[in-house]
Amino acid sequence: MKFGHFDDLNKEYVIEKYETPLPWINYLGSDDFFTLLSNTAGGYSFYKDARLRRITRYRYNNLPLDQDGFHIYVKDQDTIWNPGWQPVQTPLDDYTCRHGLGYSIIRGVKNKVEVQQELYVPKNDNILLQRITVTNNTDILKEIDLFSFVEFCLWDAMDDSSNFQRNYSTGEVEVEGSVIYHKTEYRERRNHYAVFYANRPVDSFDTSRDSFMGVYGSPRSPKAVVNGRCGNSIAHGWQPVGAHHFHLVMKPGESVKIILGLGYVEVPVEEKFIAPSVINKKNAHALMDKYYTDEQFDAGLAQLKKFWDNLLAGFEVRTENEKVNRMVNIWNAYQCMVTFNMSRSASYYESGIGRGMGFRDSCQDLLGFVHMIPERARERILDIAATQKEDGGAYHQYQPLTKKGNSDIGGGFNDDPLWLIACTDAYIRETGDWGILDEMVDFDNKPALAAPLMEHLRRSFNYTLNNLGPNKLPLIGRADWNDCLNLNCFSEHPGESFQITGPSEGPVAESVFIAGMFVKYGREYGNILKHQGKTEEAEKAYEAVNKMSETILDKGWDGEWFIRAYDAFGKKVGSAECDEGQIFIEPQGMCIMAGVGVKTGEAQKALDSVKERLDTRFGIVLQNPAYTTYRLNLGETSSSPPGYKENVGIFCHNNPWIIFAETIMGHGDRAFELYKKTCPAFLEEISEIHRTEPYVYCQMVAGKDAPTFGEGKNSWLTGTAAWTFTVLTEGILGIQPDYDGLRIDPCIPHTVSEFKVNRLFRNTVYHITVKNPDGVEKGIRSIRVNGQEIGTGPVPVINAREAEVEVLMG
Ligand code: GLC
Ligand code: GLC
Repeated sequence: MKFGHFDDLNKEYVIEKYETPLPWINYLGSDDFFTLLSNTAGGYSFYKDARLRRITRYRYNNLPLDQDGFHIYVKDQDTIWNPGWQPVQTPLDDYTCRHGLGYSIIRGVKNKVEVQQELYVPKNDNILLQRITVTNNTDILKEIDLFSFVEFCLWDAMDDSSNFQRNYSTGEVEVEGSVIYHKTEYRERRNHYAVFYANRPVDSFDTSRDSFMGVYGSPRSPKAVVNGRCGNSIAHGWQPVGAHHFHLVMKPGESVKIILGLGYVEVPVEEKFIAPSVINKKNAHALMDKYYTDEQFDAGLAQLKKFWDNLLAGFEVRTENEKVNRMVNIWNAYQCMVTFNMSRSASYYESGIGRGMGFRDSCQDLLGFVHMIPERARERILDIAATQKEDGGAYHQYQPLTKKGNSDIGGGFNDDPLWLIACTDAYIRETGDWGILDEMVDFDNKPALAAPLMEHLRRSFNYTLNNLGPNKLPLIGRADWNDCLNLNCFSEHPGESFQITGPSEGPVAESVFIAGMFVKYGREYGNILKHQGKTEEAEKAYEAVNKMSETILDKGWDGEWFIRAYDAFGKKVGSAECDEGQIFIEPQGMCIMAGVGVKTGEAQKALDSVKERLDTRFGIVLQNPAYTTYRLNLGETSSSPPGYKENVGIFCHNNPWIIFAETIMGHGDRAFELYKKTCPAFLEEISEIHRTEPYVYCQMVAGKDAPTFGEGKNSWLTGTAAWTFTVLTEGILGIQPDYDGLRIDPCIPHTVSEFKVNRLFRNTVYHITVKNPDGVEKGIRSIRVNGQEIGTGPVPVINAREAEVEVLMG
């Protein structure tokens, strides 16, 4: 069942049924101020850090669901309703929510009164703007009471939801006409406050939640709305809120527009107050002046749309499949940008108070956005590298505000360092900026330890070689990509961390997956050295890589597929010898992407085994058969019920690795068949089963063993975004940035006869047309650039604004 439709022209998803299977959200903001917004106007705002600068509250596992947000209440005689249906849930006569790139428009109609909420965060300002348009479509004079409502968070979201003995006494506000200032803790160590204003005089207002809702009240039936008037309350402690009330008298056909703004304002410490306890409002006034009129509102929105159009123009595809086009040109690229902005901090599944930035997550995210914002990618690489430890290991996470490694979780996740090579190589291939390798970068954030980025890559590479186990495969440490395969942890007590309990970093447990990574990214490292003229060092690197490749085929091959790991006792994990967990997806994908066994037949066998043992209607499960009991020697993976998370869920993140592997083997039909299985646009029709947004990927889909097979979870913030974008554009469409040009080598379904791509690469827009007259799945006969034959490529870097490229497959 569908709950809406794609509007590709406007780059929007239009939700038509408000009761979606789960809240379907959007992200507003692309600089420092962010808002998560659901299709019924739930959500919250924060400045830079979702934990430490939370502006409004959100209760995650609340009941009823998704009650906190930016709701507008309408009282039309005895009928109380919201344009987004929640929280009152009065049935609407008509409803749409248009989620666009960085903005959303929610529109509800009840008894011929229409109320529209347009919301966005403008470029470069710290404010959530809303324009409310009320239209009286009846043929009588209408008196309508309209209410805004937000509930402020006392800044630190963790403290706000736990330290009630103090927090119930600290809340403070000021009110100035239609402007409500939230200034809790401003009297002490904060030099920032929030402001919630309207560009129209209020008829009444509230700043105390008890006054607006009633002490025992509820968002479904706020006392003030029922009464048709707020209490003009000033909050002292308890729960400070912002609510405006407008009494509108409207002629038939009349429309009224009101602009609301929720801003974040900083003031220099020495200018904080203009009188005892009276805050300095100068910066707030300046911000409000900037967004007060309809013209200003429209101009800000137009600027935002232009920003997104420019970003997305870097890669545009035209194939005969509109679902592919809309994913590549709009939604998948958009999701890559959101994961760049958010990492894993704030979604409807990530509370914003949990993890910092993941080392491996951030490196992989970069693969999906480097072509859109190469300068920011550069900055990100240098930030990540600066947290690397001296021995080449990595802190598993770092804090976005301090940019320092997080010592609570520490290091020892032995795949981490190799991802730094992966993202640096992708950056150089995209930009040709070899200079980045000479940048001086700290180790462990200590300037005294700074060394060129190249040295960081060297230590990443050597870290694997310095940490080999009994079979000469890389030691796994606390975990590799699969954070839940904890072979050294042995946790027996509830509440302990699965990753950092027990010996954690053992001398025996080995990972075939890291071995595959070492071959793939170690070879890229060798290529970098070679390109830099360091021939001897490059040869040594290739030698180590080739040796590892042999070791994989010797110790990491099970007969029909690649083994996953060796546990702390030297026993195989992911082998036919095991009673459960016989085959895992990760080493099949990574080893084949690295080229292991491609020429000697193992790769094909492994892919056949994946098809036979892991493939399902909704994608490839992570392993099989599921663990039915908790196993001390395997850790968290065996803690989930069968079918969920790393215990045989469909982890969308590594499905693209298998798709890549299929493209390496030349199987365009199969690659695309697999692509469709997890791709949200192809799941739109079964939204009642899939449940998460049909315009973005989720991290995990319940696997075949789960009673809820096909149900998605953890949408938005997942490395899936970057990997699916990369596999579609580089693996299937075959447009691969390389050091000295664009390599073009598609692997497509044999039924595709032609497709076109506009690809911005090093300041030139390449207009690429690929023709497939013989219906092959892979293979290039010839490439012409501006009419000139160049063999099979690569297409050289051209010093011109545009270039025409014709590719003939066959
Ligand atoms: C989560 C983590 C990621 C990890 C994956 C598999 O998505 O963010 O780092 O690789 O789970 O455990
Ligand atoms: C992954 C796992 C999660 C684990 C976390 C630790 O995200 O899915 O269960 O706690 O990694 O880094």
